[in-house]
Amino acid sequence: MSANEKKAEGIGLGLRVDMAARFLDEAPESVRWVEVHPENYIGRGGLYRSYLDRARERWPVLTHGLSTCLGDTEALDTEYMGQLRGFLGEVGTGWHSEHLCFGSGAGAALHDLLPLPFTDEAARTAADRFGRVRDAIDLEFAFENVSYYAPQGDDGLDEARFCAEVLERTGGKMLLDVNNVYVNSRNFGFDPRAFIDLVPPDRVVQMHVAGHFVRDDGLRIDTHGEPVCDDVYELLGYALRHVGPVPVLLERDNDIPPLEDLLAEVERLTRIYDDAMRARETGAEVHP
Ligand SMILES: [Fe+2]
Repeated sequence: MSANEKKAEGIGLGLRVDMAARFLDEAPESVRWVEVHPENYIGRGGLYRSYLDRARERWPVLTHGLSTCLGDTEALDTEYMGQLRGFLGEVGTGWHSEHLCFGSGAGAALHDLLPLPFTDEAARTAADRFGRVRDAIDLEFAFENVSYYAPQGDDGLDEARFCAEVLERTGGKMLLDVNNVYVNSRNFGFDPRAFIDLVPPDRVVQMHVAGHFVRDDGLRIDTHGEPVCDDVYELLGYALRHVGPVPVLLERDNDIPPLEDLLAEVERLTRIYDDAMRARETGAEVHP
């Protein structure tokens, strides 16, 4: 069986060109799978492609998209969707994921993940696009909850119920970003565990954790440029205990530290993962 046909499980790392050379040379055992953004590889050869090929020899690969946000209202780019489908088949990912947000308008990419209003209308729009993307890639598809900074009005759903509504309408899957839940909960004053309690465990196929930045005024910004904080480790343990064994990605996209620092985080995540799975079996408390 090749690495591609193995199931992604445990803790994974994002394959980023800044760390790929040493990471691929050392191929650490503690990393169980890798995640890639198709946008970095489609239509591109050279060094990027050689890194991907080496990673595929060693690990299962999961894919996570950046350019087909589910809140967008414009028609899908059919040429790109064909390329994406080919790429996903080539790397043998078990599913593909995208963000539940707004990312382009008037033909221009906004290069940011902007929040949707948590309304029935937005849920309907996102669910419709979700179905069209899933049909185009002909593969299991999941949406990811994002971090946001603009307060919502009082007339909609809360974020957890909005996600549940999209799940209900699509019958699809979810990539639960635990750091995003935590960041939003601190910025907008809700209980992050209550959010996770509302996520149907059987619909979650994957999780993300990352570090975030705390501004002097207390606002938390999802930077993917800091170590994961203790509260997010703790919330991950809670989420894993709720959901069960799904692959967890350590996202680090900015200020990427030396490999040993990333691997120290992978080891801590592995302990939390193993503890949570044991706790599910025994009913014991989770300790981060
Ligand atoms: Fe994420």
